[in-house]
Amino acid sequence: MAKTRRPLIICCVVTAVLLIIIIVTAITLYFTLFKPKQPKITTQSLTLESFSTNVFDLTDTNFTLGITVGIDNPNYGGFKYENSTSYVTYHGDVVAVAPVMADTIPARGQHNVGTTVLVIIKSLVTNPNFSKDMGTDTLNFTSTTTLKGKATALKIFKKKATTYSSCDISLHVLERNVTSICKSKVKF
Ligand SMILES: *[C@@H]1O[C@H](CO)[C@@H](O)[C@H](O)[C@H]1NC(C)=O
Ligand SMILES: *[C@@H]1O[C@H](CO)[C@@H](O)[C@H](O)[C@H]1NC(C)=O
Ligand SMILES: *[C@@H]1O[C@H](CO)[C@@H](O)[C@H](O)[C@H]1NC(C)=O
Ligand SMILES: *[C@@H]1O[C@H](CO)[C@@H](O)[C@H](O)[C@H]1NC(C)=O
Ligand SMILES: *[C@@H]1O[C@H](CO)[C@@H](O)[C@H](O)[C@H]1NC(C)=O
Repeated sequence: MAKTRRPLIICCVVTAVLLIIIIVTAITLYFTLFKPKQPKITTQSLTLESFSTNVFDLTDTNFTLGITVGIDNPNYGGFKYENSTSYVTYHGDVVAVAPVMADTIPARGQHNVGTTVLVIIKSLVTNPNFSKDMGTDTLNFTSTTTLKGKATALKIFKKKATTYSSCDISLHVLERNVTSICKSKVKF
């Protein structure tokens, strides 16, 4: 009797130990590799894509800004973001908008989200700050791009994430150039 029982007990113990190892490994993997992680904003750039002005009337100036936000997705699953809009404001008034198309950043991938926005200076002339700013040849704008999305891992673990990026832009009409300082934030 005892002779036939012993292998059975050993078998049960081995099975139990293996099960515990598998469960611990699964839990550890979930909390390390497969836990949804927040996307990171790695680069931000703002470029002057085009500039046209009327030498007889400097308020007749148009320029196009290229806005690019580089996002890094550290997850073993995609980061899917919704359609969005980039805004350019002048002293708090929205003066230009540009659409940002919904897309998915692949697992453990990097992706540049970009758009171009046209600003027509003539549309600012009614702003009370305009003539004073034009006198100093410095028009300050702020651009903002917000992306709302979901980070997924293994298709089952999902978490909402929102990236915010904004740039303070100074346009110098006479020098035909822009300088900018950008900052970003991710809410998870
Ligand atoms: C700026 O754009 C407006 C509207 O498209 C146009 O009427 C105007 O001629 C443009 N001005 C310059 C200097 O390109
Ligand atoms: C996003 O925008 C595109 C193009 O404007 C449109 O075809 C699509 O239906 C939009 N998607 C959503 C979820 O609104
Ligand atoms: C813009 O104009 C408002 C009201 O005229 C004024 O309070 C504010 O200080 C001005 N801002 C700048 C940066 O000149
Ligand atoms: C525009 O922004 C620059 C840099 O942020 C600042 O030094 C300057 O005073 C601002 N000028 C106006 C007119 O708001
Ligand atoms: C813009 O022009 C000003 C004046 O000429 C210069 O000091 C500045 O370096 C220029 N900035 C860029 C980004 O070219």
